[in-house]
Amino acid sequence: MSARHALAAEIAREAGALQRRRFHETRVIETKSSAIDLVTDVDRACDALIRERITARFPDDGMLTEEDTEHAGTSGWRWIVDPLDGTTNYAHGFPHFAVSIGLERADRLEAGVIYDALRDELFHAQRGAGAFLGDQRIRVSKTDDLRRALLGTGFAYDVHSATNDNLAYFEGFMKRAQAVRRAGSAALDLAYVACGRFDAFWELSLHPWDIAAGIVLVEEAGGRVSDFDAGPVPASGERIVGSNDRLHPAMLEVLAAVRA
Ligand code: IPD
Ligand code: CA
Ligand code: CA
Repeated sequence: MSARHALAAEIAREAGALQRRRFHETRVIETKSSAIDLVTDVDRACDALIRERITARFPDDGMLTEEDTEHAGTSGWRWIVDPLDGTTNYAHGFPHFAVSIGLERADRLEAGVIYDALRDELFHAQRGAGAFLGDQRIRVSKTDDLRRALLGTGFAYDVHSATNDNLAYFEGFMKRAQAVRRAGSAALDLAYVACGRFDAFWELSLHPWDIAAGIVLVEEAGGRVSDFDAGPVPASGERIVGSNDRLHPAMLEVLAAVRA
């Protein structure tokens, strides 16, 4: 583990412990881009804690965190952080959320850590060194038939008003896959593809912090990520398909069929 990767794991555990501790407390909840886009006091507290820890050890690194403005760095490294992925779940007391920390150097994702504090599951990966759940190596599933596949997806906070709302794709996959889950944390969805709990995942309108760590996990676990046309995932996070690789062509076919 590199020093930054180790620090990411340490910080994710620390922020996760805060989420676990405060899970049953009364939340201070505000809205952001829409009435259903929430932010809680714990999202903000975790964002601040993570930034503070990174700055203390690597003051020259850049940081893109969901709840703060972007900080440019000079070292070439950038931390891409979702301090609490699954905020709607967290606000409702639904026990499924995580901390997600991705590490990028010269526009290449190098490492990722996703920590589910309630299950005490630390998913982590470093480019070229494999993907792990705790100290166990993880690999994507071997499912090669969409009819036997369990898929994950999600919906963006503009779903009430957007026409590009994922509902047509959702129907397309519901009619073809074994089942589809909308569990409420894109970071955990990708971690679950990496460890074989999900066979594939797709979503629109995500942000870099939702997927940076998950991309490294899926790739290092032997899976594949792309946009909806087999190209690279856009840096914005706009469109992503993550799969066990074997199902990738079938996933892209359904996306294209629905679009047609
Ligand atoms: C959200 C979750 C959700 C996804 C949304 C994201 P947040 O992130 O990852 O699963 O469907 O599009 O915005 O707001 O809980 O950090
Ligand atoms: Ca998120
Ligand atoms: Ca978040």
